[in-house]
Amino acid sequence: MQQEYRKIWGRKQNRPLKEYQKNLLETLLPQLQISLKPETKVDPTIIFPLSKEDYHLEIGFGGGEHLAARALQAPEIGFIGCEPFVNGVASLVKHIDAHTIENVCIVIDDARLLLAALPDQCVSRIYILFPDPWHKKRHNKRRIISSETISDLSRVLKSGGSLYLATDIIDYADWMQKTLKPRGEFTLEMNGRDTLTDRPTDWPSPTKYEQKGTKAGRNSSYMIYRKK
Ligand SMILES: C[S@@+](CC[C@H](N)C(=O)[O-])C[C@H]1O[C@@H](n2cnc3c(N)ncnc32)[C@H](O)[C@@H]1O
Repeated sequence: MQQEYRKIWGRKQNRPLKEYQKNLLETLLPQLQISLKPETKVDPTIIFPLSKEDYHLEIGFGGGEHLAARALQAPEIGFIGCEPFVNGVASLVKHIDAHTIENVCIVIDDARLLLAALPDQCVSRIYILFPDPWHKKRHNKRRIISSETISDLSRVLKSGGSLYLATDIIDYADWMQKTLKPRGEFTLEMNGRDTLTDRPTDWPSPTKYEQKGTKAGRNSSYMIYRKK
């Protein structure tokens, strides 16, 4: 695995954690956290304490509102959340504690390292919602959606599985489609919607991040790519 991937751009922590958040990180997080070890696979079928029907992955879960809502809706699914930002992890752990959620594992690291550690065809859904846009052209290569990550996303997705993407940045929405289009195994599904900016009705409530974009007048695009 290429260690240069460990260079995660952007913040890893901003506000100091409140005392109860620190407590949860010390008491509850160790029961949920999966650490990545060199040359070791992370097999979803063995990391959850109770066996699960299927597995979903969320990359860059931010405050974890979406992940917690999905996990509550589907207790039969094992959810793996990946987020390097400690305040975000503390927020997800708070939701997990408040709702006694028992089907989430957390990886606090760069998603590209996690992807490399996952076996082929092991998850049936991947969510990457409102990823950091890296607006400047010279920073575009930092985007989590790239031709390299798409190869790994495709490898870990089961056949018939789906990649859920969302962004409130028009340029990134185009970039996502341009990156996916050459990949013959993915089909963009509209699921009865007229445009990509129609929010799918079965998605959980918008996260704080999504709400911020809406408040600022940005239209979001929601894409569901199905893998053949
Ligand atoms: C703009 S926020 C969106 C958060 C959340 N998905 C939402 O919709 O509210 C992007 C998130 O991606 C995380 N992130 C950035 N680079 C990442 C990486 N290499 N692997 C995993 N997560 C990453 C950031 O820490 C941040 O929490």
